[in-house]
Amino acid sequence: MDFLAFVKKARTCRRFAEDKPLQRQDLDFLVECARHTPSARNAQEVRFVEVLSETSAKLFPLTHWAMALKDWKGPYAGERPTAFLGLLLPENCSELCLVDLGIVAQTVQLAATSKGFGCCIIKSFDQKKAEELLEIPQTLRLQLVLGLGVAVEMRFCVDVPASGSLSYYRDKDGVHYVPKRPLEELVIRRFD
Ligand SMILES: Cc1cc2nc3c(=O)[nH]c(=O)nc-3n(C[C@H](O)[C@H](O)[C@H](O)COP(=O)(O)O)c2cc1C
Repeated sequence: MDFLAFVKKARTCRRFAEDKPLQRQDLDFLVECARHTPSARNAQEVRFVEVLSETSAKLFPLTHWAMALKDWKGPYAGERPTAFLGLLLPENCSELCLVDLGIVAQTVQLAATSKGFGCCIIKSFDQKKAEELLEIPQTLRLQLVLGLGVAVEMRFCVDVPASGSLSYYRDKDGVHYVPKRPLEELVIRRFD
């Protein structure tokens, strides 16, 4: 698969094969990929919590999925993530750490895709309860949780519709579509 096709394939995934749970070595692989990412000043401040099994099941209800899909209440039993990766940063770290965090999150999403796993980067979660559950040290903040599992959902990028809406949506068969702005709108100037 060429690289553009691979990046397009690496869509957010919110439905998983719960009967094929990820294992510790799967999460270790994702962190192994993440640890080779660029980092401002090469400070490498992002830390990880690998979450499987019962703790994953306890973390799930603290996370919020696809707020734009009004008549879907998040993954139902049988299609829930089987693992989470918590991404942490030191409390009061510099803005540059957030750039590192984004690079790490996308690298994990790409790495997950390479294995047939799906990934949903989640910022909307109950931070206090999640930090308690995962026993996060006082000096660190849980910034993102990545929901993970074997992907079963069909997801595609599409052009932005005539209405201009950027909201993702599903068709009657549950296929998920994500409008992406055209290249010509994104490149605001070209110096040749
Ligand atoms: C920083 C960040 C935070 C996100 N938080 C959530 C979230 O809390 N819940 C969720 O369901 N999706 C979340 N997403 C996934 C976005 O909704 C998704 O990236 C967007 O709909 C575009 O879809 P795509 O990733 O397939 O391109 C988040 C994505 C990013 C990058």
